[in-house]
Amino acid sequence: VGDKLGLTPQMGWNDWYTHYAHPTDGNIRAAADAMISSGMADYGYQYIDIDDAWARKPGSDVPELMGPPRDKNGSILSNNRFPDMKALTDFIHSRGLKAGIYSSPGPLTCARFDGSYGHEEADAQRVSQWGFDLLKYDMCSYRTVMKDRSLPELQKPYIKMGSLVHNLDRDVVFNMCQYGMGDVWKWGAAVGGSSWRTTGDLGLAKNDSLPGFYSVGFANAALDKYAGPGGWNDPDYILIGTVGDANKQGLSPQPTRLTPEEQYSYMSMWSLMASPLFFSGDMTKLDKFTLGVLDNSEVIDIDQDSLGKQAKIFRHTRQEFILVKPLADGSLAVGLFNVGSVPLRMSVGWKDLGLEGSAQVRDVWRQKSLGSFANSFSSQVAVHDVVLIRIKPRKITKK
Ligand code: GLA
Repeated sequence: VGDKLGLTPQMGWNDWYTHYAHPTDGNIRAAADAMISSGMADYGYQYIDIDDAWARKPGSDVPELMGPPRDKNGSILSNNRFPDMKALTDFIHSRGLKAGIYSSPGPLTCARFDGSYGHEEADAQRVSQWGFDLLKYDMCSYRTVMKDRSLPELQKPYIKMGSLVHNLDRDVVFNMCQYGMGDVWKWGAAVGGSSWRTTGDLGLAKNDSLPGFYSVGFANAALDKYAGPGGWNDPDYILIGTVGDANKQGLSPQPTRLTPEEQYSYMSMWSLMASPLFFSGDMTKLDKFTLGVLDNSEVIDIDQDSLGKQAKIFRHTRQEFILVKPLADGSLAVGLFNVGSVPLRMSVGWKDLGLEGSAQVRDVWRQKSLGSFANSFSSQVAVHDVVLIRIKPRKITKK
């Protein structure tokens, strides 16, 4: 693994689904404070990420967003909602946390703020001068300057920024966001990506019979072989708790509020998939239930397991979705998801999992041992619920 960053998936908070195109310095500071006071930092949540809309907005008539995007040396300027970026990262660091920022390889970001096109070197320097620890690089309007839609053209901006970031005098996680184009999972790590978004925006995912996180999760789960220490598949943020008003942004939010069972399923799926765990709800409105979903140390241990394997799909039908993740201590984490519309009895057999002999089973959410099982495990699973178990075998016959 050498000098790779991100040997386990990044954990933190990103402001997008709460503040959208209106984040302020105050919002980010409040989130950093809440990361500590809520106890989330103690569970490993560490990055405080500013998403889009911190730069100047060309053509805007909103006073705080106006002015030239760059100074005379070509260094990008923040808008007046962020009066002093270095002071902001100092504040975040003083809390023992890390700071993330966002740009686009295109002339404009997705929310039409100033992007890095033609200024990549200056902007990479800026990331380091300002003291950021993560850069999210979001394709957006780069599509308007591409010669064609070929793979080399898709890769070009990420190769460029990936190597600039890598050569900075600072450890900066490179979070690629181009929605899975050109099968990015096959080359994201090679161009310096610490993670790469595999799908479109989860908050915009169309709901048919299931909430959007399921379709995003199903697609991301099929890419297990491309994830590993230093380079992770990114299925977007944990969109639970109190989130921003997407309607005001002209975006459609998840139409229905997720049930408690769906929220446990969401967090279980992301952890089994070794996904970066970025909460994107409102840090100042954390309720007990949301914290309960985010802060279960045994669930997080599955995500952060040092073996760094993403779960494999073991079974996927209209009713059942089962993921299996091998862990460093020889255990298997197994998620039994009921994705149908009636309660189900779900089971997994040791033979099919490659296990021999009896095995100890632990209920991960309840942090409770269920005892020793001779050949298989089965459990009742409520509609859209999950049973997440950790199986410790006597002997492993296949990996
Ligand atoms: C895209 C990205 C989102 C967010 C917005 C910001 O939609 O996929 O994660 O960064 O842009 O405009």
